[in-house]
Amino acid sequence: MKNILLYCRSGFETDCAAEITELAAMYGFYGYPEFKKKQGFVVFVMQEATAGEQLIQTLDWRELIFARQIIAVNELIRFESGGRVESLLEAAKKLPLAQDLWIETADTNEAKSLASLIKKLDKPLKGGWKKASLLRTKATGVRHHVFLLSGEAAYLGVSYHVCRSEFPLGIRRLKFPAKAPSRSTLKLEEAMHQFIPAKKWPLLLREGMTAVDLGAAPGGWTYQLVERGIQVIAIDNGPMQDNLMATGLVDHQKADGFKYQPQRQVDWLVCDMVEKPTMVAELMARWLAKGWTKRAIFNLKLPMKKRHEEVTNCLEIIRRSLKNAGREYEMQAKHLYHDREEITVCIICH
Ligand SMILES: C[S@@+](CC[C@H](N)C(=O)[O-])C[C@H]1O[C@@H](n2cnc3c(N)ncnc32)[C@H](O)[C@@H]1O
Repeated sequence: MKNILLYCRSGFETDCAAEITELAAMYGFYGYPEFKKKQGFVVFVMQEATAGEQLIQTLDWRELIFARQIIAVNELIRFESGGRVESLLEAAKKLPLAQDLWIETADTNEAKSLASLIKKLDKPLKGGWKKASLLRTKATGVRHHVFLLSGEAAYLGVSYHVCRSEFPLGIRRLKFPAKAPSRSTLKLEEAMHQFIPAKKWPLLLREGMTAVDLGAAPGGWTYQLVERGIQVIAIDNGPMQDNLMATGLVDHQKADGFKYQPQRQVDWLVCDMVEKPTMVAELMARWLAKGWTKRAIFNLKLPMKKRHEEVTNCLEIIRRSLKNAGREYEMQAKHLYHDREEITVCIICH
C-alpha cells in the first residue's frame, strides 16, 4: 500500500495533514496530504508501492497528536451497489493476512447515515473474509479496515499493533459518571487512560497523593482525582460542587491560577483554564522546572486557525524550559475524543 489514511475530528484536517507531512519527512517519507474540510480524515499520498505500510510501522503512535487512527491504504475502491462485498474481497486478497476486520467510517454527521449500511455489510464481509481465508489467528497485530465513504466507495486498509488506536474509529467512549459536576470530567478521565498505562495506575494515581487543579470549578477534573482518593487544592473564583466539597478531600481556594504557588511539592498538577495556550505552556513549564509538581495534565485551548503550529510552539516552550532546568521527562500530547477546540498534554518527570 502506498498511502496512509488518518482519522481525525471533523474540522481538524488541516492540522492532521500538517502534522503527518512534517512527521513523515522527519522519517524520510515524502508525499502530500489530500483532504476536504470537515470530512474527518486525511489521506497522505506517497509514491512507492509499500510506503504506506513502511511509514505506519516506523511511526510511534504516541507522536501523533491530531490523528485518532492510522491505516495504510491503496486507491479508493469504487463499487456498484450489489457488488460491494465482491469488490472489497477482491482487493483484500492483495493485502497481508489479518487477525480481524473492522468496518468503519468517518466521525461526521454525514457519515453517521452509513450506520445501517455498515450493519448490513458486517456479516457478509466478515463471512467473505473467512471463506477466502484472509483471517488468521496467527496474523498477530494485523487488522483490516474497510473505511466506508458512501454506498459507492470505500478505502480498504491495514493497521498494525505497533502504531494504532485499539478503539473502533479511534474513539475511546466513556460513560459519564452521574455524580460528576461537569461533562469536562470525561476529558481528564480519557487523558488518564490515554497517557498512563493501566499497570502504572496503582503507582501513579493512588490514594493519599496530592494535586492542584487550576481552573477547577465546578469540579469535573477534581472529581476524577477525588474518586481515586487524591487530595486536591482546587483553584478557581467560581463555586465548586457541594458533594465534592463534602468528601473532605478538596481545599477550595479562590485565587488566580497564574499566581498561586503550592507550599510543598504536589504529585499532580492539572489545569483546564481557558487562556492563551502559550501562557498555559509557560505556567506548566514553570511548575515542572521549579519542582512544584512532578507530573502535569493540562489542556491547551486552540481556537485559532494554525493549531498545529501553535501546539508545536507551546511544546517547544516547555521542552526548552525543562532542558534548562535539567529535568528528565516524558511528554505526550493528544487531541482526545472528549476534547473540542483544544488538545491535552501529559508530562511526567523522572
Ligand atoms: C473550562 S472551566 C474548568 C472546568 C473544570 N475543569 C471542570 O471539569 O469542571 C475553566 C475554569 O477556569 C477558571 N479560570 C479561568 N482563568 C482563571 C485564573 N486565572 N485563575 C483561576 N481560575 C481561572 C474559570 O473560572 C473556569 O471555572
